[in-house]
Amino acid sequence: MKASTLSFRLAVLFVVAGMAMGIGMAASQNHAIMPAHAHLNLLGWVSLFLFGIYYERRPALDASRLARIQVWLWSAGTVVLTVAVAAIHLGYTAMDPVAALASLVVLAAILLFGYFVFRPAASAAPNPNMGITPAE
Ligand code: HEM
Repeated sequence: MKASTLSFRLAVLFVVAGMAMGIGMAASQNHAIMPAHAHLNLLGWVSLFLFGIYYERRPALDASRLARIQVWLWSAGTVVLTVAVAAIHLGYTAMDPVAALASLVVLAAILLFGYFVFRPAASAAPNPNMGITPAE
């Protein structure tokens, strides 16, 4: 599977979970896990969707195993970070080291993405055929 497809699919799963969490908070009038909801939506939905757009515009990178690893690393870090942040805000402060570890996983994933962006490789250039087509 292409990295972009993986990103878009995981992003949709994350936003469904994030919205369910938001509805749960609103319905229960208990916003204690709001930071977990915000992280889940912004890391899992917004960022992942943006990665997908970047990969989709670079077909060679999109087909690479390393790009898929970046998406999985980011997603795994997001899941663990969300659960740990929610647990901490519900009083389970013992989850602090788990959140710290997950934050390092997410950091590693963004550094890998940064490597894709900064490396002087052909795969870093956008596909010129994927630009905006004028209306007829
Ligand atoms: C069904 C959809 C959603 C519902 C019902 C919902 C509900 C909520 C609720 C109840 C809060 C707590 C507000 C507070 O305590 O002040 C909140 C906060 C937040 N939500 Fe959502 N949300 C939804 C979707 C999203 C999405 C899609 C995103 C991001 C793309 C998002 C990002 C945030 C952020 C960043 C905060 C923290 C705001 C702050 O710091 O004051 N939410 N949401």
